Amino acid sequence: MIRLVFDILVILATFRFPAIESRSHRNVATSGIELSALNCRKHSALLTDFGGVGDGKTSNTKAFTNAISKLSQMASDGGAQLVVPPGKWLTGSFNLTSHFTLFIQQGATILASQDESEWPVIGPLPSYGKGRDGTGTGRFNSLISGSNLTDVVITGNNGTINGQGQYWWDKFKKKQFNVTRPYLIELLFSKNIQISNITLIDSPSWNIHPVYCNNVIVKSVTVLAPVTVPNTDGINPVRFLHKHTDRGLLHSLRRRLHRREKRLGPIRNQFGMPTKHLSIRRLTCISPKSAGVALGSEMSGGIKDVRIEDVTLINTESAIRVKTAAGRGAYVKDIFARRFTMKTMKYVFWMNGNYDSHPDEGYDPKALPEVSNINFRDMTAENVTMSASLDGIEKDPFTGVCISNVTIDLSAKPKKLQWNCTNVAGVTSRVKPEPCSLLPEKNADCMFPSDLIPIESVVLKKCTL
Ligand SMILES: *[C@@H]1O[C@H](CO)[C@@H](O)[C@H](O)[C@H]1NC(C)=O
Ligand SMILES: *[C@@H]1O[C@H](CO)[C@@H](O)[C@H](O)[C@H]1NC(C)=O
Ligand SMILES: *[C@@H]1O[C@H](CO)[C@@H](O)[C@H](O)[C@H]1NC(C)=O
Ligand SMILES: *[C@@H]1O[C@H](CO)[C@@H](O)[C@H](O)[C@H]1NC(C)=O
Ligand SMILES: *[C@@H]1O[C@H](CO)[C@@H](O)[C@H](O)[C@H]1NC(C)=O
Ligand SMILES: *[C@@H]1O[C@H](CO)[C@@H](O)[C@H](O)[C@H]1NC(C)=O
Ligand SMILES: *[C@@H]1O[C@H](CO)[C@@H](O)[C@H](O)[C@H]1NC(C)=O
Ligand SMILES: *[C@@H]1O[C@H](CO)[C@@H](O)[C@H](O)[C@H]1NC(C)=O
Repeated sequence: MIRLVFDILVILATFRFPAIESRSHRNVATSGIELSALNCRKHSALLTDFGGVGDGKTSNTKAFTNAISKLSQMASDGGAQLVVPPGKWLTGSFNLTSHFTLFIQQGATILASQDESEWPVIGPLPSYGKGRDGTGTGRFNSLISGSNLTDVVITGNNGTINGQGQYWWDKFKKKQFNVTRPYLIELLFSKNIQISNITLIDSPSWNIHPVYCNNVIVKSVTVLAPVTVPNTDGINPVRFLHKHTDRGLLHSLRRRLHRREKRLGPIRNQFGMPTKHLSIRRLTCISPKSAGVALGSEMSGGIKDVRIEDVTLINTESAIRVKTAAGRGAYVKDIFARRFTMKTMKYVFWMNGNYDSHPDEGYDPKALPEVSNINFRDMTAENVTMSASLDGIEKDPFTGVCISNVTIDLSAKPKKLQWNCTNVAGVTSRVKPEPCSLLPEKNADCMFPSDLIPIESVVLKKCTL
């Protein structure tokens, strides 16, 4: 099994959360449970109040839809929470509402239906143009979805969402879909989102996909899926999606921070939103076929100011991977990573500028990406096959690469060439084994910003069910 545990992941804190006053709560049958949330809710209901049946067989799509529709009326009166009590709650896709909390209790599992008629087909992401799977443009609405929302909390005391992915994986492998598989959670054009204290199992495809969103906190989330199934990425925070992608995503079997490439089209340009101010902390990841954190391959709006710290990687292909190519444009810059503990890695550092999997022919080969100011410090790794493969773009080198205080112990059968560097410039300090000559010793620590990004200062409120 793939195992991912995210402690904190915050995105795009360009403004603070509005101070919505928390009002008194109302106890439900499952009372007494404490939770931390962006906002507490005045109203509460149980799924069973809306005819929910937790037998694992009865469809609860109507119960969820009716409950959320009813509770949406309380948005302007202190908001509402829907509690999913212990049981197995089979459901198709449903949409959330604003000023709303979905609380999945311990012992409760939301089971994703394997009946396609329970999944409305919606249009492609506006900036994407087509679906990712198959040939059609449509995509199944995600299990838990929402557009243009604000103040949404999906939480629990480690309740579960089980995507029952086998049906979708089998059909995908047989190329029987012309509609893109659903994700477990997708929010579009939304802000002030919290996803916490839940476990996500066996998603049909990606797990958590906030797209064109501001202020997203993902905290204490466990993501599990078999390593053999494609595209079960943990979290794909994306501010720009463009057209059909490709190996850029297929290659990233687990959790990625995908950024989309620069496309020069009038429609797509309006989505050229950079992904920035991203903080990833206390990530634990097992992912033998992909990176702990991937930046790229698509990154239309660019990726900027990403801080990654206190990461444990076990049997993972590489730590942080930067993948791009001529024609993708935009940038990956101001990336800061520290305090990684790693064991059994194919590569520790992996950046490549020949990730040529363009989604179609319509790209501008002269759109060169800028990869600069990439900082790694305070890391140890053991049982490593190759320390670093750093391969920039000819006439467009990756610059400002800094690596300090990193000790890498090699596996029993390491690569002869431990550092393979081309078209890259930077410095190192106290790194073992000895880095390539393009990264000379400078005897100085690499930078990690000491300021907090605004969202890191958001304090969750204590609420009671
Ligand atoms: C998608 O597949 C279904 C069933 O295989 C078929 O009926 C439908 O016409 C296809 N749609 C497109 C857009 O290819
Ligand atoms: C549910 O949300 C999706 C996007 O998140 C949207 O395309 C769809 O129209 C919504 N469905 C309903 C019934 O509102
Ligand atoms: C959501 O917001 C986007 C961007 O502002 C807009 O284009 C879209 O029409 C909105 N969708 C809905 C369902 O209101
Ligand atoms: C959520 O997870 C955190 C960290 O593991 C824990 O301290 C907290 O008690 C959990 N909250 C709930 C409601 O289970
Ligand atoms: C939540 O449940 C998952 C799956 O059972 C488990 O792996 C994880 O350790 C649990 N998390 C907490 C904080 O108890
Ligand atoms: C070291 O890594 C190899 C793969 O390169 C793996 O087969 C082996 O089990 C690892 N050894 C330990 C002690 O983890
Ligand atoms: C070097 O990194 C290790 C963690 O790998 C850390 O414990 C140690 O404090 C660092 N040393 C310095 C001088 O920063
Ligand atoms: C080093 O990297 C270059 C550029 O990607 C590649 O062509 C070459 O084969 C690599 N050398 C080794 C020994 O892996």
